[in-house]
Amino acid sequence: MKIAVVGKGNVGGGLANLWEKAGHEVQRIGSEGGDASDADAVLIAIPGPAVPDVFNSVSGLDGKTVIDATNLIGAQPPGGFASNSEFIKSKTQGPTAKSFNLNFAALYDKLAETNQRPGNVWCGDEDAREVVERLIRDAGYDPIYAGGLENAAVSESALRFLFAIAQAGTGPFFYRMAAPGQF
Ligand SMILES: NC(=O)c1ccc[n+]([C@@H]2O[C@H](COP(=O)([O-])OP(=O)(O)OC[C@H]3O[C@@H](n4cnc5c(N)ncnc54)[C@H](OP(=O)(O)O)[C@@H]3O)[C@@H](O)[C@H]2O)c1
Repeated sequence: MKIAVVGKGNVGGGLANLWEKAGHEVQRIGSEGGDASDADAVLIAIPGPAVPDVFNSVSGLDGKTVIDATNLIGAQPPGGFASNSEFIKSKTQGPTAKSFNLNFAALYDKLAETNQRPGNVWCGDEDAREVVERLIRDAGYDPIYAGGLENAAVSESALRFLFAIAQAGTGPFFYRMAAPGQF
């Protein structure tokens, strides 16, 4: 798959490396912008409040399947939308998903050492499912579906809960969630 990754930091740079190892062709786009026309999927991994800037600096996003990995951390989503993901979809009009926002980038280099695949909660459009679940698996996680894009705001809010657990003693952690028969 051809993937355009917007943001070269912990999340964008780290996932770009993991996806390249899995055989994908990755285009890395930083603050200078670029053209994502060739991409089959686009990851947005920049500070949450900077998301509107992407639509000035990155071209070729119309109709693209976008995975939004951002968190807002105290800021409000732009344009009166409930979440960054819904704002992004209003701009691209393409399949959109929220994912990787509830997984610690500091642990990407531990994914290869786990004896069970950690979980990665995603929510979003049904027509994004095939791409997002493949890229979750190719990064080293098991996808956990959390409903449609209307749940992206809940997902963005869940970060505080993850931080509470991490700060209470575990530090950055992996998680798994599954129906009873799967444990
Ligand atoms: N770190 C984590 O564990 C983690 C986990 C899940 C989700 N997240 C979320 O994922 C997002 C990225 O986090 P991070 O830890 O990767 O941050 P980071 O290491 O600070 O990297 C952010 C990157 O975004 C770039 N950037 C800023 N504005 C941009 C724009 N308009 N276009 C393209 N690139 C732009 C920055 O480039 P410049 O330095 O050139 O500005 C920087 O390379 C945040 O929303 C964060 O809340 C983080």
